[in-house]
Amino acid sequence: MWIRPMLVSDIEAIKQLEKDIFGDTWSENNIKDSIESKFDYCVVIEEDYRVLAYIIFRVNADEAELFRIATDKCNRGMGCGHRLMNFMISNLRDMKVKKVFLEVRCQNKDAIRLYEEYGFKKLGIRKEYYHDPIDDALLMEGYIKC
Ligand SMILES: CC(C)(COP(=O)(O)OP(=O)(O)OC[C@H]1O[C@@H](n2cnc3c(N)ncnc32)[C@H](O)[C@@H]1OP(=O)(O)O)[C@@H](O)C(=O)NCCC(=O)NCCS
Repeated sequence: MWIRPMLVSDIEAIKQLEKDIFGDTWSENNIKDSIESKFDYCVVIEEDYRVLAYIIFRVNADEAELFRIATDKCNRGMGCGHRLMNFMISNLRDMKVKKVFLEVRCQNKDAIRLYEEYGFKKLGIRKEYYHDPIDDALLMEGYIKC
């Protein structure tokens, strides 16, 4: 199992994971734009030539936004989520980024617990922000300690 940058050749695998995991899936263009953006960091965990998990975050000056973190349903609970969060946080620390924001479905207990383990705090709620199925969005903020 190893971490490496996401490549254009990973798009098909990421599209399939998006379809299996999320209601509000990212399109091929969304994924490609992020891979090619100089502001976005897109990383995968691969094993035996298969993408198990990925993270996408954007850095804008001294702030960042976590867009996506996901692990294939068959490979959860094996540490991929922690590895990807550690990767993001250590890179943000190197870049002197101070804050990270994210939005997550209020019903998404696994993800919220993971974020809280990394010290993320609740900032507010956006009512019925998500569709398919309808859910409120929880806004969270994390501080990167030096
Ligand atoms: C949130 C998510 C990325 C965590 O990924 P993961 O690879 O399972 O993460 P880890 O293996 O590091 O485990 C994280 C925690 O979840 C627990 N966990 C999550 N799913 C589990 C499963 N199916 N089996 C066992 N444990 C599980 C782990 O035990 C661990 O708990 P701990 O922190 O108390 O030790 C994953 O649940 C996921 O892909 N969710 C759907 C996508 C999503 O909602 N993303 C966030 C919004 S963008």
